[in-house]
Amino acid sequence: MRRSTMEATSVAMGATSLALLVSMWIASTLSVSVIPHDAHPGYSVKKYNSGVNYRLLDSGFSQFFTMLEDGSIMTVSDVSPLVNRPIDLLVLEDEGNATKTHMLQLYVLDRRNMLSFKSDSDEVQGRVAENSPAGTKVEGLPVLQAASGLTTVPITYSIIGGNAAQAFELKHSVTGDVLQNVTVSDNQAGVNLVTAQVLDREEANRYVLTIQASDPIGVNKAVTNLVVEVDDENDNSPVFSQKVYRFVVGDDSLEGDNVTTSWKRFSSIGKVEATDADGDKIAYKMATPTNFLVIVPQTGDLLLSEEPSEEVELELVVEAHDIRTPSRTSPRPAQVLFKFKPPESSKVELDLDLQKLAERELHRGKRRVTRAVRPTKRIEFTESDGDTEGRIVFQLEKETDRETFKIRDENPWVTVDPNGAVRVKKKWDYEELGPEKTIDFWVTITNAEKGGKS
Ligand SMILES: *[C@@H]1O[C@H](CO)[C@@H](O)[C@H](O)[C@H]1NC(C)=O
Ligand SMILES: *[C@@H]1O[C@H](CO)[C@@H](O)[C@H](O)[C@H]1NC(C)=O
Ligand SMILES: *[C@@H]1O[C@H](CO)[C@@H](O)[C@H](O)[C@H]1NC(C)=O
Repeated sequence: MRRSTMEATSVAMGATSLALLVSMWIASTLSVSVIPHDAHPGYSVKKYNSGVNYRLLDSGFSQFFTMLEDGSIMTVSDVSPLVNRPIDLLVLEDEGNATKTHMLQLYVLDRRNMLSFKSDSDEVQGRVAENSPAGTKVEGLPVLQAASGLTTVPITYSIIGGNAAQAFELKHSVTGDVLQNVTVSDNQAGVNLVTAQVLDREEANRYVLTIQASDPIGVNKAVTNLVVEVDDENDNSPVFSQKVYRFVVGDDSLEGDNVTTSWKRFSSIGKVEATDADGDKIAYKMATPTNFLVIVPQTGDLLLSEEPSEEVELELVVEAHDIRTPSRTSPRPAQVLFKFKPPESSKVELDLDLQKLAERELHRGKRRVTRAVRPTKRIEFTESDGDTEGRIVFQLEKETDRETFKIRDENPWVTVDPNGAVRVKKKWDYEELGPEKTIDFWVTITNAEKGGKS
């Protein structure tokens, strides 16, 4: 019995003292400020939230400090007598129901003994290439070194702001130790800024870092800001926005955005698109040969080139590469599905024409075959057959009396008379005739009475 009572008492006593301690800390906040000994009266030490609810409690230092209505504490006289004396100021905050206490610890330091960074002039911008291995020194920055008039060592350097994803660390300029916080106990030493990981410019291209130098108790401190630019490397290839692009020409029965109703030479039917995370310009290329479409390298626009003579469905492959040295090509090309359907309406017209023609032929009691395209003629000649300009080399045969002939495209070697006579235009030269040693040309045949082509 006695033993257990004693235990209970000691527990109760422990609980009492603990409760006191806790309530004291909950009711207060603690801040630390450092001011130089030569601060002019009116120097702002710290500002509490504005409002009329704050009050600076009387203390032995009332002749030095006052609180303004906006909640800021400022000096009202020369503070040099306070150098190296610990000063605690208490601020009461009236919350209506309750009061809060805020403690402000002040250090007045001789300005000559306050830490400051050397060379915090222009040399605050450094650069590092993306993809550099961790531990790469940021170029263009001086050795960071803070000092005071006193030989204040050790000094601890830390990155206290802007170090997103812990991208950087500090490196002791003499020992080479790399740490988040580097403590230097040699007045000649400082720290260098190094990468703590492989950086990706496409994720973050610029860092603004705040570096702090501090004495061991964290009172005498200095900060400086550094800007680090991450330089670009061509580490991204163009990527197509779609794996497959579908384009339809001439078939409006299919639904969708990419249907072009009529075929028109060199009109755009749509485009493929790739993006490059490095922001590089992109060039497009058709990887499958085709006569029906061309791609505009700069824009990815697909233009119609040759009209297919019948319905076609094509699967084409396009590639993209960035315009940079060395260049990178899309890891996965895109597929272009192209469908062309000749217009239904004109097919019907043609059928009607043929039907009329057939009827007319029937009336005449004659039957003849009318072809849209007649078979290719192949005739062999010797070079000497083309010796004389104007000479008739052969005669195209008419299927009806009314037909007239006309060469479709200008040809350097031959002309065609309306009656079908093929003549030498310029003396034939075997050497100039091209690899196949042929003269190829299309002839348009017109039925003079109808004025239509067959
Ligand atoms: C007093 O405290 C209560 C409970 O915390 C709160 O609801 C009330 O608004 C407070 N009154 C004032 C004047 O702050
Ligand atoms: C480094 O220093 C900063 C600022 O003084 C501090 O907040 C942090 O906890 C320290 N980090 C390490 C790993 O010591
Ligand atoms: C039309 O093209 C766009 C992009 O080129 C694509 O997003 C869309 O799916 C296509 N529509 C059809 C019907 O293929």
